[in-house]
Amino acid sequence: MRERHGPGPVLVNAFGRTGLILLSADDARRMLAETGVSFTTANREKMAALSHFEPDAVLVTPGAAKAERRRFNEAAIDHCAAGQWFREACRAAVEEEARPLLVGGQLTWKRFRGAYQRIVRRIVFGDAARDDERITELRDKLRSDGNWFMLHRKRHRLRNELFARCRRYIDLPEPGGLARAVSATPATAEIKPVAQMQHWFFAFDAAPVSDYLTLGLLAGRPEHSARARTDRAYLRACVLEAQRLWPTTLALVRDTTAETHWPGGWTLPAGAAVIACTPFFHRDARRLPYADRFEPEVWLDGRAEADWSIAPFSRGPAQCLGKEIVLSTSALLLTELLRHDWRITSPNRLGPERPLPRTADHTSLRFAAGDRAARG
Ligand code: HEM
Repeated sequence: MRERHGPGPVLVNAFGRTGLILLSADDARRMLAETGVSFTTANREKMAALSHFEPDAVLVTPGAAKAERRRFNEAAIDHCAAGQWFREACRAAVEEEARPLLVGGQLTWKRFRGAYQRIVRRIVFGDAARDDERITELRDKLRSDGNWFMLHRKRHRLRNELFARCRRYIDLPEPGGLARAVSATPATAEIKPVAQMQHWFFAFDAAPVSDYLTLGLLAGRPEHSARARTDRAYLRACVLEAQRLWPTTLALVRDTTAETHWPGGWTLPAGAAVIACTPFFHRDARRLPYADRFEPEVWLDGRAEADWSIAPFSRGPAQCLGKEIVLSTSALLLTELLRHDWRITSPNRLGPERPLPRTADHTSLRFAAGDRAARG
């Protein structure tokens, strides 16, 4: 599309809906920066998808209530980030769940994901939720309904069960993880704390994907791995770089709340969709010399930060509030795993010899522990 149409946005009509696909970094930046002014994150299709399991979450809240719910999200997440108890709880969760992964010399997506789901439950709902596989199952069932947007009927019984389980962790005499912050953060009836928590639980599920791919990238790059073992900032940059290469949020989407004017003379009415596809912007070789290489340095020297079209955790007023929790969890877990030298044993194209592929199947990646493990 960019080749055919140049940098101007492209107007599309699908299923009676008008949408603008952005093709320039400046337009993407504008959409992100003007969120809350002429754009809302409460895009119609996203609301339809998320309403299956997290109606009322801040991301899909239109109008004035959004600011109030965002303040609640910030206060609860900050309450945790500021607490030594929370950092200790995260460390314990990650170390304990990572330990079995270091045994046996083989690592598969299934084992990795199982351990990660326990970590996520412990961080979001507290240690009491460690083995609550039902809560994960409920989320996953409702999320797959969400893939059908408004075409799938609402399964209210499952959603009530999910919300009731969540509530139980908040109401424990001594709640743990983010549930503790929810019970400690004042909320009006309008806030709907359980719906906010559902978003945290749902969003965290993207972290294992990028962490597993980060391990895949490091496995074929001994010099990068050696640095990642001792330099926490660099390891976080590696995770961000995996998110740049294969973003888990494929499109940043807004609906217009006012008439907007665009390069090329487009005028878009209020109520239209605006779409920035992250896989395109993150790999745009016209602008990024490092587009298809693994180059964590871009997250350390300011190049990636300065470019708003590189936005795995979004940018601007709707930027992800869980970014720090995700990056610190990822760094803790990868530090544990990097006690071994891992070698990929399944077919893959993650090595440094050629440009990295546009998509990567994390589910088929298998690893074997190499010499370092044998020595240890
Ligand atoms: C790898 C994991 C995650 C990724 C890649 C991610 C990415 C994102 C992105 C791209 C957005 C903004 C979407 C937009 O601009 O339309 C977002 C919003 C948000 N994220 Fe995350 N997220 C992750 C995990 C988390 C976690 C664990 C939490 C909470 C603990 C969280 C809390 C939020 C909240 C509250 C918002 C809504 C912000 C708003 O609408 O004002 N995220 N996230």
